[in-house]
Amino acid sequence: MKQLAQRARAVQPSATLQASQRAKALAASGVDVINLGVGQPDFQTPAPIKAAANQAIQADKVDGYTATTGIAPLRQAVADHLQATQNVMVTTDQVVVTTGAKMALYALFQVLLDPGDDVLLPAPYWVSYAEQVRLAGGNVLEVAPTADLKVTPEQLAGAVTANTKALVLNSPQNPSGVVYTPAELKAIGDWAVAHDLWIVSDEIYRDLVYDRPAPEPSMLTLSDAITDHTIVINGVSKTYAMTGWRIGWVIGPKVVTAALGKVLSHMTGNPAAVSRYAALNALTGDQQSVATMNASFQERLDLIYPLLTALPGFKLATKPAGAFYLFPDVSAAMTKKHCATASEFVGRVLDEAHVAVVSGEAFGLPHHIRLSYAADRDQLLTAMARLKTFMEA
Ligand SMILES: Cc1ncc(COP(=O)(O)O)c(C=O)c1O
Repeated sequence: MKQLAQRARAVQPSATLQASQRAKALAASGVDVINLGVGQPDFQTPAPIKAAANQAIQADKVDGYTATTGIAPLRQAVADHLQATQNVMVTTDQVVVTTGAKMALYALFQVLLDPGDDVLLPAPYWVSYAEQVRLAGGNVLEVAPTADLKVTPEQLAGAVTANTKALVLNSPQNPSGVVYTPAELKAIGDWAVAHDLWIVSDEIYRDLVYDRPAPEPSMLTLSDAITDHTIVINGVSKTYAMTGWRIGWVIGPKVVTAALGKVLSHMTGNPAAVSRYAALNALTGDQQSVATMNASFQERLDLIYPLLTALPGFKLATKPAGAFYLFPDVSAAMTKKHCATASEFVGRVLDEAHVAVVSGEAFGLPHHIRLSYAADRDQLLTAMARLKTFMEA
């Protein structure tokens, strides 16, 4: 039998999905596992959004192919939403609706990168960026962060090469919940413009911020020059508890969105039509559910943060301010439990404490672990008690 392609042999499976599958398998064998490994809100999609999807089905709107880049009202709704929340004007041909933000990023790297192009990836980073860059033939240039898990222009300057084409930024950040200030983003944006780099700004958690007014300012608000170099990624998955519906989007210069339209016409054709009507309702309907979910995440962050930082060997530089993750440095905890790697530590936490978390290795920081606090309050308290018992044993 002939070998599979090099790209298929080299690509790593998603560490977060793998961790989640392991936890599910253990739970299926009868163990009471608390899963803090998954990266999705623990809410149901709000009822009006589901109702809009039902109506679209009943009205026979979803039976055929639809335009690759998005039905016109949804592209308009994305543009209007950006204007209403960020005071930034874009035209609908600067918007491409995709099958989740994951596909938006995958297709974008296909459009931006030639084989051998370098991409700056500040650590920690969401697991799929690195694999998606490599699948497009690009090289990943990891940039180590400061102690507060941010990156500065000076650090980027130390890593940039003549072949560098793009920089990926994600604020609020998965896996750490860290949020850059607008001044920090502006300094990075100015630096990227000076090097004529594309800035891929993944803003999927922009609406999920705590101890401050939501939403966070978009990269598109900082300067005209930065806007010209920036491609924003966003979607409904996290803000509206719609991970299963698979709707994301790209907002960027027309040269990029036009190319994305061509590439996507051979990849997905169009995202599921019914999901587009659901997303349209999410963006144009009452936004109260977003505020309610945010308040609930904030409450749970306030609950879990002191308990987590009190665990022996768990260290967090700062309290996270966005998304729904905690990303402690567990170097000391690993030493205490005689674990050589974070993967080994995470395996022991699952087997002995029955709490599923994700190793930091796939996020570019091998002495950290990621916990999601998008879980019910009692489960969070039980998980923290189990981790305490595990660490004190
Ligand atoms: C930073 C980041 N970007 C993109 C995505 C993908 O989102 P979607 O569910 O819309 O594909 C995720 C999902 O976990 C994420 O955490």
